[in-house]
Amino acid sequence: MPQTPIPVAVLGATGSVGQRFISLLDNHPWFKVVALAASDRSAGKKYSQAARWILDTPMPDYAKDMVIVPADTDAVQAKIVFSALHTEIANELEPQFAKAGSAVCSNASSYRRGEDVPLLLPEINADHIHLVKAQRANNGWSGCIVTNPNCTSTGLTIALKVLDNEFGVKKVFATSLQALSGAGYPGVPSLDIMDNVIPNVGNGGEEEKVEWEPRKMLGKLNNDKIDLADIRFSVHANRVGVIDGHTICASVGLTHQTDPETAEAVLRNYVAPESARELPSSPRPVIEVRSEADRPQPRLDRLTGKGMTTVVGRLRRDPIFDLKFVVLSHNTIRGAAGASIYNAELLVSENLL
Ligand SMILES: NC(=O)c1ccc[n+]([C@@H]2O[C@H](COP(=O)([O-])OP(=O)(O)OC[C@H]3O[C@@H](n4cnc5c(N)ncnc54)[C@H](OP(=O)(O)O)[C@@H]3O)[C@@H](O)[C@H]2O)c1
Repeated sequence: MPQTPIPVAVLGATGSVGQRFISLLDNHPWFKVVALAASDRSAGKKYSQAARWILDTPMPDYAKDMVIVPADTDAVQAKIVFSALHTEIANELEPQFAKAGSAVCSNASSYRRGEDVPLLLPEINADHIHLVKAQRANNGWSGCIVTNPNCTSTGLTIALKVLDNEFGVKKVFATSLQALSGAGYPGVPSLDIMDNVIPNVGNGGEEEKVEWEPRKMLGKLNNDKIDLADIRFSVHANRVGVIDGHTICASVGLTHQTDPETAEAVLRNYVAPESARELPSSPRPVIEVRSEADRPQPRLDRLTGKGMTTVVGRLRRDPIFDLKFVVLSHNTIRGAAGASIYNAELLVSENLL
């Protein structure tokens, strides 16, 4: 635990993910928010005037009177910079912050594929954090960029990692049912989503992200790069009229056969690597397995473990693959802001700041 609070900033502080940062950083035991940044539309305004608060918990007092600053390295100086920027803006700004000495913990997809950029879920691949050493050497930066995966990759990858450790995963067929908050604010128009399911997420690329990102996170750290896991994926992404919580229905082909009861026990008993087990945002437990026939459900289960736990249910035999199940993960907590904060805590505890 640090002796004094570490100064942190949030870029994109007014948006859907930005608001989760504001909320999760309230009374954080290690971090103190010193700057909130957003677009020119918001800069110069008090946070309470600029942000249209959409969370069902109150706006924290500490943020209300903070004046929003532009997202540049003159206005924002902090040891850790949390990025909730859209990809095209993150592309340009995140390296500037890393160069200026900040550890950028990012939600954007811009640098997830970088060879020397960790794509992290600490409860399954905490060792990948050490890629930042190569990244610093390659770029001459004192700061760094650490990324978390797409919110749909998150829960699926955590469940797959546990199954892969034990039985070997060869192929995955998955269909997502993704919440509206994943589209940011104001997101999908109500007349498009009420009474409807939209069989396409974002403006493309979502399915490809979920087909690729787990391969990096399930891959092995080999010197200064990751050897991608040899797993084949096919993903269908759908938007549904749920506010928070992404559900994924997955069928997996395994190297070593098992039965649903054994797989259930393995998932339930999984513990995170030691370095990621006792951090302030560590999920407790990492995975909760529901045995009811109709769980997990987003409305009932998304806040399990304060929104950081991955909830798995409906484990059963698959007549074409080997095993099928349902995974639920809170997309703006475990899949976004909570993920970046957990990554930042790992950086601190590994002395990599
Ligand atoms: N939502 C999720 O579940 C989720 C999950 C994982 C990853 N992500 C990723 O997280 C990022 C943020 O998503 P979101 O859903 O929070 O988006 P959002 O609700 O649209 O918010 C975007 C934020 O970026 C700010 N911004 C816009 N243009 C800017 C500029 N030129 N300079 C600085 N700030 C600017 C906005 O500020 P103003 O209010 O001033 O316009 C706002 O604070 C995206 O890369 C997204 O793909 C989202």
